[in-house]
Amino acid sequence: MKVTVVGAGAVGASCAEYIAIKNFASEVVLIDIKEGFAEGKAMDLMQTASLNSFDTKVTGTTNDYSKTANSDVAVITSGIPRKPGMTREELISTNAGIVKTVAENLIKHSPDVIIIVVSNPMDTMTYLAHKATGLPKNRIIGMGGALDSARFKYRLSEALDCPASDVDGMVIGGHSDTGMIPLTRLATRNSVPVSKFLSQDQMDHVKEETKVGGATLTKLLGTSAWYAPGAAVSALVQAIACDLNKMFPCSSLLDGEYGLSDVCVGVPVIIGRNGIERIVEIELDDAEKTNLEESTAAVKKTNEILTEMNLI
Ligand code: LAC
Repeated sequence: MKVTVVGAGAVGASCAEYIAIKNFASEVVLIDIKEGFAEGKAMDLMQTASLNSFDTKVTGTTNDYSKTANSDVAVITSGIPRKPGMTREELISTNAGIVKTVAENLIKHSPDVIIIVVSNPMDTMTYLAHKATGLPKNRIIGMGGALDSARFKYRLSEALDCPASDVDGMVIGGHSDTGMIPLTRLATRNSVPVSKFLSQDQMDHVKEETKVGGATLTKLLGTSAWYAPGAAVSALVQAIACDLNKMFPCSSLLDGEYGLSDVCVGVPVIIGRNGIERIVEIELDDAEKTNLEESTAAVKKTNEILTEMNLI
């Protein structure tokens, strides 16, 4: 399994590190436009191989896409991260052109690749990757829900005062401060609904903290987070590499599922060897349905900017 990670910034380097440490891929290629940067990150990472006991070969290149040839999976982290006070949507004018070029370059050298989109605004960048490449819809995955669900489980474990491994839960909808839909109704601690342990106020608090999870970190760090995004991506890459048929909420091109179409938004999907093996339609209650419709409408509004920018 050959994996390309485009962008050797904090998120890209973190992806490469987690993928290498988990030791399921034969090769990771880091690519960046900044001269020598990806090479440096790759060399630094490779010098941890004997310490961390991995065999994955990590290499770096300055914008030479021929080095990414025949990748099975490519992760797009390129573009700028948000600064404190910014929304993800505000990044579109810079990131959209970059993501389009990157997606086109990737498929030139790896026609069979499965693309995972991380760059923000993530749902719109996933939609743009579809339009720019014309790849079958199973081969483009937006990673937001996998990250947002990990943050949801973190907040639930905090409220329940238990390890995150005791907790299960999903976040669907758009990867934005207002669009995320943490499904507290379905969240459990070892199969017991969390409502058995938490008051409505506590669950509402968990929900709100989850939705602004990225913004909270951006404020603390002065830039966007990297450990959890990197770990979320590596979990998706591993599910593909090992054909795990594992369920994650991911931004996927919808074609009638949940009554929605021509949009990429977070819904539960099964990830395996072919990327999105299938979309899982779960029963939502009326409030959740309304939330998903509103969240999707907001993503579609952001997608319109792609047309205004003449990118699609
Ligand atoms: C975040 C970015 C990756 O939520 O969107 O941290």
